[in-house]
Amino acid sequence: MSDEIKVAAECLRRGELVAFPTETVYGLGADAANPDALARLFKLKGRPGDHPVIVHVATIDEILRWAAEFPDVARALAEEFWPGPLTLILKKAPDVLPQVTGGQDTIGLRIPNHPVALALLEEFKSGIAAPSANRFGKLSPTLAEHVRAEFKDEVAHVLDGGPCRVGLESTIVDLSGAEPRILRPGMILKEQIEKVLGKTFLPPHVESEGGTYCAKGATGTRAPGTLKSHYAPRTPLKVLPFADLLKEIGASKEAGKKVAVMTFAEKPDTHDAVSWTVLPPDPESCARILYLRLREMDSLGADGILVEQPPQASSFLAIRDRLTRAGAES
Ligand code: TXA
Ligand code: MG
Repeated sequence: MSDEIKVAAECLRRGELVAFPTETVYGLGADAANPDALARLFKLKGRPGDHPVIVHVATIDEILRWAAEFPDVARALAEEFWPGPLTLILKKAPDVLPQVTGGQDTIGLRIPNHPVALALLEEFKSGIAAPSANRFGKLSPTLAEHVRAEFKDEVAHVLDGGPCRVGLESTIVDLSGAEPRILRPGMILKEQIEKVLGKTFLPPHVESEGGTYCAKGATGTRAPGTLKSHYAPRTPLKVLPFADLLKEIGASKEAGKKVAVMTFAEKPDTHDAVSWTVLPPDPESCARILYLRLREMDSLGADGILVEQPPQASSFLAIRDRLTRAGAES
């Protein structure tokens, strides 16, 4: 792997794109200081130019190369959770390229917790801008083969680090305004962040229809991953309480439609679905395989995917959020 890391870092230095594993999902990396590489990245993903990308670094010492300031609250969160599935939004340093920030005055930064990602960052010795390695609006990849299938030869190098351990994208905390805000829930929970901050999030940090705390940061920061329809399979997906889900399966059968079903815990002995997937009851195991299972269901050629509403516990918030978005109409 160490030779492969050198090759991948060389590709990045030449302005090419490299896909690499992180503990959350696979990232599609580009040199964050190279405008041509960033242009290539946005083009390949099909991502609108005003959507900012997260810059990944290897150490806390590199933060002030990218951020104008590293306030104590940010440092406290970084020390507690990095390397790990947390992205901090800070005021950007003056020379950060506008493509990285989507033209905003903030930057998203993260130290990922994956040996391959960290080895690549150490070898590259600078920041790697990396959105999830999928086309815009689609499911994030949690295996190297997902990336290869989606981009074929269009990525210079795909580093294979096996299945992602967390399986859902990082929690995003905006610290660029007067009050901290969670822009995207993840597997580092609101309560864990509040414990470090020593205070609770202010409203509107309540779960909204979309499942997130708030779609806008304190200073109007946009986090386009919080668009209503995102993280979506191709097959239409609906999230329903268990009883409604059973009725919907019956109605689909009568209408001659094939549905694939995913539930938490319960699976009847007989059913009329083309496939029935039961997710594990604990949120960590569930998050780890959610996208993989959705991809499998998406490949069945069903007319619809029906998913049971996840449990209401705070530990399931990120799962509820992604499923709600997967089911939202664009
Ligand atoms: O776990 C993750 O965060 C993965 C891995 C590869 O690190 N990355 C990821 O990137 O999910 P992406 O581009 O798919 O989602 C990044 C999210 C987007 O919603 C984007 O709008 C938001 O982060 N974001 C990035 N920079 C931002 C900024 N300066 N202000 C507000 N939101 C920002
Ligand atoms: Mg993404």
